[in-house]
Amino acid sequence: MLRKLYIETVGCQMNVLDSEMVVASLRQRGYTLTGSLDDADTILFNTCSVREQSENKTYSALGRLRQWKLRHPEKVIGVMGCMAQKDQKLIFERAPYVDLVVGPGQLQQIPELIEQVRREGGQRMAISLGRRDGSTDEIRRSHESFDPLRDPSMRPTPFQAYLRIQIGCDKFCTYCVVPMTRGPEQGRPPDDILAEARTLADQGCLEITLLGQTVNSYRYREAERTTRLSDLLYRLHEIPQIRRLKFVTNYPKDMTDDLLRAVRELPKVSSYLHVPAQSGSNRILERMKRGYTIEDYREMMQRLREAVPNAAVSSDFIVGFCGETDAEYELTAELVKECRFKNSFIFKYSERAGTKAAERMEDDIPHEVKQWRNNDLLAIQNRISFEDNQKFIGQVVEVLVEGPSKTASRRESDGELLQLTGRTLCDRIVVFDGMPRLIGQILPVVIYDVSPHTMFGGVVMEQVEPAALLSL
Ligand code: SAH
Ligand code: SF4
Ligand code: F3S
Repeated sequence: MLRKLYIETVGCQMNVLDSEMVVASLRQRGYTLTGSLDDADTILFNTCSVREQSENKTYSALGRLRQWKLRHPEKVIGVMGCMAQKDQKLIFERAPYVDLVVGPGQLQQIPELIEQVRREGGQRMAISLGRRDGSTDEIRRSHESFDPLRDPSMRPTPFQAYLRIQIGCDKFCTYCVVPMTRGPEQGRPPDDILAEARTLADQGCLEITLLGQTVNSYRYREAERTTRLSDLLYRLHEIPQIRRLKFVTNYPKDMTDDLLRAVRELPKVSSYLHVPAQSGSNRILERMKRGYTIEDYREMMQRLREAVPNAAVSSDFIVGFCGETDAEYELTAELVKECRFKNSFIFKYSERAGTKAAERMEDDIPHEVKQWRNNDLLAIQNRISFEDNQKFIGQVVEVLVEGPSKTASRRESDGELLQLTGRTLCDRIVVFDGMPRLIGQILPVVIYDVSPHTMFGGVVMEQVEPAALLSL
């Protein structure tokens, strides 16, 4: 029987990849995708718990299905991902019409669980062990990875794919739920990663983004040999069809010289480095248990700038963490000015049940103060992004053309000419006019204008030598 799946994904790139894999496994069982709830017989929400807002989004989407499920009791509703692992039974309590709750470590069971619900009715829950509920090995095993199944239709574009090299996180920053929802840090075997990269290349991928919560902490030990992220990059670089390699997210303390050397030496490796600082104050960093001081972060930035002078560095910041004073916030603002990040993702601290911060510290910064700091930091960052983008005006950059821009409209008089969008090797967004056939190519584009987050350009169709011009 033909089944129709509706799937909604929130959260980080890990979730985008998990959704791709779940869709791939359901397609094997004859499912097709639909963008309409009314068409669907199976509805899945892939969820995120990193901030309260992410959870609220899912709970209100579920709320909207209450009446709908009364009218269609035969349709299956599933909640998967980090919120499933974190809230577990609470999801059934808040939304009793949900049929399935499946953690990120049990995604491979989804097709079977859906069938069970259809056959036998009732609710099903599959989740991993908590971080105190067994031996390290048992906990590890309960967070099974689910990687080989891929589905090209679920990728950001046909030429870009994510590839997980690591699951989980062992850093336990005091504000963060990820070590609980994704379990212990585990690196995947290098040979599996290489094999998957080759499959992706054969499917037409030009760009692979390696994923891990602290991707540069990746280590895989077999007998005498340890493979690091830098070793993986050298091996992946050999795959001829792969033109670009990226990796996110980096942990400042693990930004080692071997990795920086790989970024400098390997032309396919993006010189875009996302290395979240979180705060500019040592006292706050310590309360966050980030494991480094601001002096360590500065030293890392200096090594990074020396090794890869043209690198584009970006960061994450949490404003309004427990006890953050105005003066401590100012230190964060200073750090942003000093480091001149390409961009920063800025978040208002959101207390998460089960974390050390929630247990031991008071979420005492008023919402308005968090909002003010958020706006202020964003304004500082935007000014820097704008200034630094201006240096590109008149330059030619290499762009991987991803597709029509969000606002693209076909212009009658220009035939097929579209507004296209793509990214440079250092992750800057470039918008320009071009024919649809350019999508999926890597092209030279000359930049003629910029905004804080976008550069505007025109395709350089051919590099014409001045001598050739003269003889025309
Ligand atoms: N593993 C990545 C990021 C994980 S979550 C890393 O360590 O860099 C992405 C970002 O969300 C974090 O970098 C942090 O800035 C933010 N974040 C995490 N927990 C948060 C919380 N409780 N409140 C607000 N922001 C949070
Ligand atoms: Fe969360 Fe810290 Fe791990 Fe990142 S490093 S996932 S912020 S605990
Ligand atoms: Fe959210 Fe889980 Fe990613 S909490 S940020 S979806 S790892």
